[in-house]
Amino acid sequence: MNRVYIKTYGCQMNERDSEAVAAKLRARGYSLVDNEFDADVVLLNTCSVRDQAEQKAIGKTGYLGKRKRTNPDFIIGIMGCMAQNRGTELVDKLPDLDLLVGTQKFHAIPDHLDNIIATQNGLGPKPSTIVDLDEEEGSQNTIREHLSDSRQVCAFVSIMQGCNMNCAFCIVPKTRGNERCRPIEEIVDEVEELAARGTKEITLLGQIVNSYGRREIPFRNKKSPFVQLLEKVQEVKGIERIRFTSPHPRGFKEDLVEAYRDLSKLCEYVHLPAQSGSNRMLKLMNRPYSRERYLEIVDSLRTVVPGMYFSTDIIVGFPGETDAEFEQTCDLFQEVSFDMAYIFKYSIRTGTPAAEMGDQIPQEVKEARNHRLLGYLRDSSLSRNESMVGSTQEVLIEGKAKRGELYVGKTRGYRNCLVSASDRLIGELVQMKVNRATQSSLYGDLVLSGVDELNKPAPTLSNSLL
Ligand code: 5AD
Repeated sequence: MNRVYIKTYGCQMNERDSEAVAAKLRARGYSLVDNEFDADVVLLNTCSVRDQAEQKAIGKTGYLGKRKRTNPDFIIGIMGCMAQNRGTELVDKLPDLDLLVGTQKFHAIPDHLDNIIATQNGLGPKPSTIVDLDEEEGSQNTIREHLSDSRQVCAFVSIMQGCNMNCAFCIVPKTRGNERCRPIEEIVDEVEELAARGTKEITLLGQIVNSYGRREIPFRNKKSPFVQLLEKVQEVKGIERIRFTSPHPRGFKEDLVEAYRDLSKLCEYVHLPAQSGSNRMLKLMNRPYSRERYLEIVDSLRTVVPGMYFSTDIIVGFPGETDAEFEQTCDLFQEVSFDMAYIFKYSIRTGTPAAEMGDQIPQEVKEARNHRLLGYLRDSSLSRNESMVGSTQEVLIEGKAKRGELYVGKTRGYRNCLVSASDRLIGELVQMKVNRATQSSLYGDLVLSGVDELNKPAPTLSNSLL
């Protein structure tokens, strides 16, 4: 009765929240399974950023509900952003739901499950759906446990929760609440524990990481709290690579640009959401920067790190977006030549200012604009990868590929690599000579240092690594 499957929709923050819930459940004696069919309890960790993501989770809950007819003790829970966004409306809509838990109450899930199971065992009256959607002071500090059964080569660390921006399209301030940060020392402790268990790469997570600690932690030597945090993580022994997601162009100041120059572990890759290349759109979106400022940040990063990699988020078909304004997004897109991008068709989110705006854009227009940007992305991503053929790249090996014999890893620029390696190299930084490139991946062979110079069979150490 205690096998739990957690299905996660949406962003990396959701993945991290799910992992923390899984770790708490395991500590409480539950076991985690990797598919819904072996589970007694299915928890959906949901996303509300677009309507499609909500519809998927609602559809899934309806489908899972059928299992209750043959197994009334089967437990279904919805947690996270959609729980917070839609609230008790979901209970009315989904009669089979046992548990509805908001974004500040993940840590309460083990208690709620214990209670539901106790009543199933006759230890109390059969409950109606448990609903726990309150705000909770300090809840940002409850996302800290990691699953410890296997070593995580790359780990996410949540540094803050919530968002104080008011982008006109976005539901996240409603689902995640006001911005609250964790103390630097607690974050560094968590990173040290991960490093001690063999983690090599850390991704710091927050809605807007560069506003980390703005209200709580003073600037020091003209450095923002976020850059101070990066400097502390840089000092953790065993950590080889640092990433973060996502920064906002507003507040992307010189100190953060210089961090890319000064912090050797900070990878030369940034996910910097642009949303649009039109100043009128940016204004309507309530994004407080211009396309000129965005390009200035890109330039200053390329000045300190010439090979910098860029990815972005773009929304096409925001209310009122004209063809000419979309062309400006195309221009920006081509000017930066993004290595990766997430392109979203604008989706109406009830309760946000943009939902009330006139001049909503027809679906076919959104599709066509989406298609065009995807074309540019294919070209820029492929040419970046092709430019690396023949070069040698540092790759952190993460594990075996899902199919076939190859191993997967990433470069510092977050390019996906496939290489013939061995289990012993998982978690190691290796040198890979790139032989072939596709839009999404680099294929190559390991370079064994010292082999060429010695002009004799590979040294025993290198052999033993293979
Ligand atoms: N419609 C489409 N895309 C959206 N995003 C946020 N809200 C919406 C919406 N209503 C996109 C933004 C954001 C990313 C996480 O999701 O590009 O950066």
